[in-house]
Amino acid sequence: MSAMEIPAGLADVPVTKSAISIIDGKRAMLSYRGIAVETLAKESSFEETAWLLLKGQLPTQRELADFHHELRQRRKVHYKLIDVIKNFPADGHPMDALQASIAALGMFYPARDVKNAASNWEATLRLIAAMPTVVTAFARLRKGDEPIEPHPDLDHAGNFYYMLFGREPSPSVRKVVDACLILHAEHNMNASTFTARVTGSSLANPYATIAAAIGSLSGPLHGGANEEVLEQLSEIGKAENAKAWMDAKKAADPSFKVMGMGHRVYKVKDPRATVLQELAEHVFAETTRPAMYEVALELEKICVPIYGPKGVYPNVDFFSGVVYSSLGIPTDIFTPVFAIARVAGWLAHWLEQLQGNRIYRPEQTYTGKTDVAYIPLEKRP
Ligand code: MLT
Repeated sequence: MSAMEIPAGLADVPVTKSAISIIDGKRAMLSYRGIAVETLAKESSFEETAWLLLKGQLPTQRELADFHHELRQRRKVHYKLIDVIKNFPADGHPMDALQASIAALGMFYPARDVKNAASNWEATLRLIAAMPTVVTAFARLRKGDEPIEPHPDLDHAGNFYYMLFGREPSPSVRKVVDACLILHAEHNMNASTFTARVTGSSLANPYATIAAAIGSLSGPLHGGANEEVLEQLSEIGKAENAKAWMDAKKAADPSFKVMGMGHRVYKVKDPRATVLQELAEHVFAETTRPAMYEVALELEKICVPIYGPKGVYPNVDFFSGVVYSSLGIPTDIFTPVFAIARVAGWLAHWLEQLQGNRIYRPEQTYTGKTDVAYIPLEKRP
């Protein structure tokens, strides 16, 4: 195979078989284990969806009740881990704090024998349960506030909101947070999921595997994009500025790309963006309709005739930041929210990878020199 034949970024190259989720990028279709994501966002809960992803089918009432219970038991993290988080620099990025915390979590609750199904399930529960705890602990500690203990009566979404703000969400805000978690829980072979599968394939422990996936998600070309979308909307400032902003960007660089527009897989509007927009309308019925949302709508209107013919439409990041910021979530916590959701998908892929595992060891096309003579240091020019 020549270097020319390797698609950049392995675009369209299947790297594994998987039964977890499927996307039809031309028909705006995403389903988890065969159930449309729109249905799950409306009807399901994050916990039920996580079970579906992990186990392959919807839980019975009993299974779901037990799952809720087991997760709640594991929300608290070892006090020494909170001490570790206290010592992170306050101006460090929350994704870096999350990655380091999850790697450290694996030292407090070791699960190195990945051939042991009971230990793998234990780690799965702990990872899902502890992510909101460590994200909110860092978010508060960096401001000098004490972390808030998990609330045993709240579900995953409600408890995350409670630990972040110190108050319970209204039922509709809770539903929006829950639906955002469902929408971000899984997305077939994206970069962080591939990272989780590659790391897991070496039989690394689940905490190391998830920490690696968090690192991958943190990049601006992946989960970090939602932060950049909000910065872009803030730069535009007002809906009526959008056209002039766009004209200036295009004049300066005709290949200018708008953050949050376009997706490697979708050639139409990302179905998650459509659901998020509906959710946004729900949130804004309770809060005020933020200027940033009006800017996003105007920008979408301007972009569609320019980029639509090339199959470039809003992706999930285009609206998620606006929804999160309207809930009062700090901009640099957007990607950690994504991670709190996506850990379910990563773990489902990790467990699937371990069945019939073979370590990933692809080939490369060498483009370097051969037969180069070694010149002793003192003789080098
Ligand atoms: C995701 O949800 O992981 C992103 O849309 C990126 C992707 O699928 O490549």
